[in-house]
Amino acid sequence: MPDLTGKTAVVTGATSGIGFEAALALSQRGAQVWLACRDQVKARLAAERIEAQGASLPVELVPLDLADLQSVRECSLQLRQRLPRLDLLINNAGVMLPPYSLTRDGFELQFGTNHLGHFALTGHLLSLLSTTRNARIINVSSIAHHFGSIHFEDLQSRHRYRAGQAYAQSKLANLLFTYELQRRLQNAGSETLAVACHPGWARTELQRHVETSGIRGWLFRQAERFFSQDARAGALPTLRAATDARVTPGDFYGPGGLFQAKGAPVRVNSSTASRDRPSQQRLWKVSEQLTGLSYLD
Ligand SMILES: NC(=O)c1ccc[n+]([C@@H]2O[C@H](COP(=O)([O-])OP(=O)(O)OC[C@H]3O[C@@H](n4cnc5c(N)ncnc54)[C@H](OP(=O)(O)O)[C@@H]3O)[C@@H](O)[C@H]2O)c1
Repeated sequence: MPDLTGKTAVVTGATSGIGFEAALALSQRGAQVWLACRDQVKARLAAERIEAQGASLPVELVPLDLADLQSVRECSLQLRQRLPRLDLLINNAGVMLPPYSLTRDGFELQFGTNHLGHFALTGHLLSLLSTTRNARIINVSSIAHHFGSIHFEDLQSRHRYRAGQAYAQSKLANLLFTYELQRRLQNAGSETLAVACHPGWARTELQRHVETSGIRGWLFRQAERFFSQDARAGALPTLRAATDARVTPGDFYGPGGLFQAKGAPVRVNSSTASRDRPSQQRLWKVSEQLTGLSYLD
């Protein structure tokens, strides 16, 4: 990773897992890092752990609950007031397989948190990113996007909720959003890059809703033994997308090993569905309507 002295990064969901490891590595390379998290006690502990492991600057905190658009607005306002520049926006926070529940604004929790919250955050921070030279927006997706489709007729899973399908939908949305964002940035003459990444299978808190008992639990643990990597390795695609000088607009990075589950970060392909331009445009329009925020028109 290059020296990041003078750069500012905002990482969403940095209390654990990939977000924490990415924030730690960026900070160790000299960046001023802001942790955008919903739980301020966990966020303070994460900041202290990063500072104890060789952060070059004090780690800053800003409250952010992506499942609440008012909180997203307040977080963005605070960042715009306090930051003179923003080089890296790492849209990392996520939830996976929760029981059916809704965000404060009535969106299915995974779609609302993983996609709509980040769509709104990015829009609110775009002016700051655009006035920073060579800024990047990094969206953290998943291999699960390959199994996803966007159910435009029932985006909030009101008629039928399958937790796995809703997660895959939200992670496909991360990619559709990245590609449409990149196209709109380019059309607007902006030099800001939009890129995506996925961590493969990393051992983090994300699996908290995965069944761990019975035969399914046993199978999960066996697969985990062979195919997973630790959170630090899982953060490498994020860090490459964020800092490698060879990254080009709309790139997607993931682990290079078997099934892209683990290994060194390489450029990977995303699904045909994620490349579908009408879906990219339609999701953008719907996201604008749902969040009440239009940008890069
Ligand atoms: N681990 C994997 O194998 C894997 C695979 C594919 C993709 N991913 C993606 O990687 C990203 C990071 O996940 P992880 O594996 O590092 O999981 P993790 O350890 O559970 O971290 C998720 C982070 O997101 C935060 N978060 C959840 N809901 C939020 C909300 N409403 N507002 C703000 N922050 C919220 C969590 O905060 P709290 O501490 O408050 O809960 C936590 O900091 C996610 O986007 C996930 O989909 C992970």
